[in-house]
Amino acid sequence: QPVPVIAIDGPSASGKGTVAERVAAALGWQVLDSGSLYRIVALAAMRAGVALDDEAGVAAVAAALPARFETGRVLLGDDDVTTDIRSEACSSGASRVAVLPAVREALLGRQRDYRSAPGLVADGRDMGSVVFPDAGLKIFLTASVEARAGRRYKQLIEKGLPANMQSLLDDLRERDARDAARPVAPLMKLPDAALLDTTELDVEGAVAFVLDLVRDRG
Ligand code: C5P
Repeated sequence: QPVPVIAIDGPSASGKGTVAERVAAALGWQVLDSGSLYRIVALAAMRAGVALDDEAGVAAVAAALPARFETGRVLLGDDDVTTDIRSEACSSGASRVAVLPAVREALLGRQRDYRSAPGLVADGRDMGSVVFPDAGLKIFLTASVEARAGRRYKQLIEKGLPANMQSLLDDLRERDARDAARPVAPLMKLPDAALLDTTELDVEGAVAFVLDLVRDRG
C-alpha cells in the first residue's frame, strides 16, 4: 500500500501553504512546501552568481542544494534563509528558474523523498500532475487575483513592510501568466482535482473542506 498523498496545487498567494500545513497538522502527516524549494534554488543561484536563465548552471545548483527544513526554519547550508526566500526577488526568481525543465527534473527526487508514513500533504503547482500523479486526493485551491493581492497586502502591512496594492496585483498577474503559460508543468486544474475557491472562504473553512474530502474518501 503506497503512502497516501494529498496534492494541493494553485496560484501564488492563494493560501495553499497555510491550508496544507493545517491539514497536515490535523492528520499528523508530513508537509512539503515545494515552492520554497524553487525559492531556495533562485536564492542559491543568485548568491553563486549564476544567471537565472542559465539552465545547466541553475540545474547544477538545484542538484547540489544544501537545503534543510527545520521546525519553522529554512536553512541553506548553515544560513537561515527563512525570511530571505520570501522576498520579491526570490518570488520572481523562483518563477523564472521554475520554467527550466532541467531544474524541475533536478528537484523531482528530492520532492518525492518527502513521501513517508503516515502520509504527505504537498503544495505547489504540479504536485498532482507531475510529482505525485497517483495522489489519492488532488485539490486545486484558488481565489480571485483581487482577493489574493488583498491578503498579501494585509500580511505586509501587519509586518510593518511597505505594500502597494497595484504593484501586488501586477506582480500576481505576471506570475500567474508565467506559471500557466510555461510548456513544462504548467499550473492548471486537473480533471480529477476538486476545486476549492477561497475568494469568500477563510482558512478554517478551507481546511474543513479538505478534511471532509479526506473523510469521504478514507
Ligand atoms: O508557491 P510559491 O509562490 O512559493 O512558489 C514560487 C514559484 O515557484 C512559483 O511562482 C512557481 O513558478 C514555482 N513553483 C513551481 N512548481 C511548484 C511550486 C512552485 O513551478 N511545484
